Amino acid sequence: MNRLQSEVMSSFKRRFNSKPLLISSPGRVNLIGEHTDYNNGFVLPAAIDKSITLAISPNSAKMIRLHSVDMNNEYCEIPISDKYKKTGIHWADYVIGVVDQLSIAGFNIGGFDCVFGGDVPIGAGLSSSAALENGVVFGLSKLFALDLNLIDMARIAMSAENNFVGMQCGIMDQFASLHGKQNSVIKLDCKTLDFEYFPFAFDDVCILLCDTTVRRSLTGSDYNTRRQECDLGVHVLSQFDPSIQSLRDVNPELLQLHKYDMFEVIYRRCKYVLDENIRVEAACDHLLTGNLKDFGAKMYESHYGLKNDYEVSCKELDILVDITETMDDVLGARMMGGGFGGCTINLVKRENISDITAKIRSEYHSATGKDPVFHVVNIGSGTHIVDDEMA
Ligand code: GLA
Repeated sequence: MNRLQSEVMSSFKRRFNSKPLLISSPGRVNLIGEHTDYNNGFVLPAAIDKSITLAISPNSAKMIRLHSVDMNNEYCEIPISDKYKKTGIHWADYVIGVVDQLSIAGFNIGGFDCVFGGDVPIGAGLSSSAALENGVVFGLSKLFALDLNLIDMARIAMSAENNFVGMQCGIMDQFASLHGKQNSVIKLDCKTLDFEYFPFAFDDVCILLCDTTVRRSLTGSDYNTRRQECDLGVHVLSQFDPSIQSLRDVNPELLQLHKYDMFEVIYRRCKYVLDENIRVEAACDHLLTGNLKDFGAKMYESHYGLKNDYEVSCKELDILVDITETMDDVLGARMMGGGFGGCTINLVKRENISDITAKIRSEYHSATGKDPVFHVVNIGSGTHIVDDEMA
C-alpha cells in the first residue's frame, strides 16, 4: 500500500471499525480525440498514475456513509432510498449519482460505508470525477455481487454524471479510467465501444501536463451547449440523409455540400469533429510507425481546431500551447479534456524536462501573472482492487 492508500485505510478503520475492500481508480489523459466521444467518434486516452483510493464496505445501518479525506474531511450520511436527490455536497453527488443510476437499472444497493482520497488534481481536466464514479461502481459491484463488466460500469458511471450531476459528458473518461493498461493508450470507437491498445512507452519522451490553474466547472452550460450544437448539425444533415444519427455518420463531402444549410457556427462545430476523427486515425498510424514528430503535429492541429472552430479553449491554454510551438524539445501540445481551463498535454523530451518547465513557467508568468503547475504522468492501470490481503 502506498501512503495515500494507508491513509484512506486508517481513516476508514478509525471511523467505521470494519475491514473494507480497497480500490484504486485512476484519472486519465487524452492524447488526441477531444469532444468526439459524445459524437460517436474516436478518442485516444490512457489511465494515469494519479488516482483516487476508496475503502468501501457494506453496513447494516441502511445508510450510505461517506467521508472524503481530501475535501476538508467532510462527512455525510444519506438513507438508502429508491429515489435519490442531490445532496448539496458536490463530491457526494458523484457517489450518490452512481447509486441512483444502479437503482434505476434495477440493482438493489444496500447501505455502505466509503472513505476516499486521492492525488488526481480536481477540476484540472484529469477526470477526478470519473475516477470517483468508477471506484464506487466497481466497489458496489463487488460488495453487492452485481456482476457488472467494465463496459456496464462505464455506462453506469457516465449516466450518473449525465442524469444525476447534470453534465452531459460522453463515455471517454469513465471508459479510460476503467480500461487503463500500463504503458498503453486506448483507441476507443465511441460508437461501437470497440477498443484497441497501442503501446505508448518511450525512453526519451514523456507526458508533461501543464495546468493553467484556471478552473471553470463543466457542469456549467458551455460544454452542454457544444453538445447541443452538434446535435443541431446532425438534425440538419439527417434531413438530407435520414440514415445519419450522429456526426460519425457524416462524411466531409456531405458536410461541405450542406455548409450553407446551417448556421456558420454549427458548420464549424461539425467540421471540427469530423477533422478530429480523421486526426485520431492519422495519429494512431504515426504511433505504429514510431513517428512521434508527426503525432505531435496532429496534437497541435487538434488544439487549433479546438481553439478556432470548436471554441472551447481559453487565453491561458492558448498561451501555454503557443509557448511550446518553437521549442524543439516539445513534440506536441494541446488543451486536454472539456476545455475552458485545466491542463495542456505535452509530449516532451524527457532529458530536458527541467529546461522545458523553466521556460514555460517564466513565459506563462510574464503573459498571465499566473504560475503554472506541472505534472509528469505515467500511463497506469485501470480501476482495480488493491492488494486485498494487506488490506
Ligand atoms: C470531458 C468529458 C468527456 C469528453 C471530454 C472532451 O472530459 O467528460 O466525455 O467529452 O470532456 O473530449
